Amino acid sequence: MNERDSEQVASMFLAGGYELTQDEAEADIILINTCSVREKAELKALGKMGLLCARPTAKPWVVYGFMGCMSQSRGASIFREVPRVDVVTGTRQYHNVYRICNRLLRSRLEQGITEPLRKGAHICSTEHEDGFQNAIRDHLPSTGSCTAFVSIMQGCEMRCSYCIVPSTRGEECSRPAADIMQEVRELVQNGIKEVTLLGQIVNRYGKDEPAVNGRSAFVRLLEDLHEIDGLERIRFTSPHPIGFRQDLVNAYTYLPKLCSHIHFPMQSGSDRILQLMRRPYKNEKYLKLCEDMRAARPDLAITTDIIVGFPGETDEDYAQTKAAVERIQFDNAFIFQYSPRRDTVAAAMENQICLRVKEERNHDLLEVVNRIATARNHALVGSQQTILVEGPSKNNPERLQGRTSQNKPVIIPGDSAEIGSIIPVRITECTGFTLYGEVKK
Ligand code: 5AD
Ligand code: SF4
Repeated sequence: MNERDSEQVASMFLAGGYELTQDEAEADIILINTCSVREKAELKALGKMGLLCARPTAKPWVVYGFMGCMSQSRGASIFREVPRVDVVTGTRQYHNVYRICNRLLRSRLEQGITEPLRKGAHICSTEHEDGFQNAIRDHLPSTGSCTAFVSIMQGCEMRCSYCIVPSTRGEECSRPAADIMQEVRELVQNGIKEVTLLGQIVNRYGKDEPAVNGRSAFVRLLEDLHEIDGLERIRFTSPHPIGFRQDLVNAYTYLPKLCSHIHFPMQSGSDRILQLMRRPYKNEKYLKLCEDMRAARPDLAITTDIIVGFPGETDEDYAQTKAAVERIQFDNAFIFQYSPRRDTVAAAMENQICLRVKEERNHDLLEVVNRIATARNHALVGSQQTILVEGPSKNNPERLQGRTSQNKPVIIPGDSAEIGSIIPVRITECTGFTLYGEVKK
């Protein structure tokens, strides 16, 4: 989601006549989009900005800004941490970043600043603005990519006890379906073959709209997108068990463009911990949804998020998480050590788990997850897959990389296929997380 939000901001700067640069020394404006889900992400962003502000620069007028969740949550207090920062903008202000930064840069250039500034302009803009949810819709002019993210809803009202997101992203707001359709049609006209729909709880898209013929607003959006000629693949992230009903399970049977992969956060395999997490369902519901989806789409790859070391998590609770991982046989999982976040219920709970136990469980679970993930990948050797060729392989530009419907990267020989095409391949080799394929003639 942050990548997508950053892209929106970048596209507004491009429209205003700016250019993007990878070189910090060349930049007149430097923005860091921040995440606050875990403490580490915040410390990294603050540390990086501290280094940037302290470096010697030939451009003393540089505008430094923070955007996103940490800005929303820490607000103007960031100026005390890194005084040289000029701009702090929140999660509902992405559409104003360009205007604020451009104005500041222009006034500094007019003033003819020659000495390094010790203190920034300290402009903080974190208020809520109506209509913000439809402000993330511009894409960068064609970068040769054939995949795109599309933001369909923002915010989260679930209030999981460990999570800072409801306070940084606010209430759930969905974009009008017609606007999303229009955006995707334009993307397809520009060569996009695959879209990934984004939302904090993506399946709660349009949750206040009544179901039509048993189909939720989200499933109806999937159906409508499916009709767009030239759009080949549809993905979405991330869904939540609440609001995940049979209509969405069924969608896997009749929407072939819907890819055979779902990232479906489990968080914990223990009902006791789920309850402490304030996730209002039992683990069996989650497991059953996974199994029902696999019944609807037998090759479905499922990946997940798991938190270890939540306050009060016993060996028995942890064992249940491990058992759930064995039962579902995830294709991959992100494992997070619980990180206390300010103003959350879980941060104030007793029985916080010590770092050593969190690390042990993290390590132990990672072994299980990796064993299952690599076994599932090895099982694909010899199979036929269809891949969307995305571009040159990162490690070897002589070869191309594509992804299967299951979202697994496959490396294929160089010029054998065009970027953006969808081609059948046979998987010939697997080295743990990477698959290698040959193009079927
Ligand atoms: N500590 C650790 N992990 C967290 N997540 C969210 N909040 C926390 C926290 N306080 C994880 C969840 C979520 C993912 C994006 O980040 O697993 O699904
Ligand atoms: Fe955070 Fe829970 Fe909302 Fe996900 S559903 S963003 S974990 S509060």
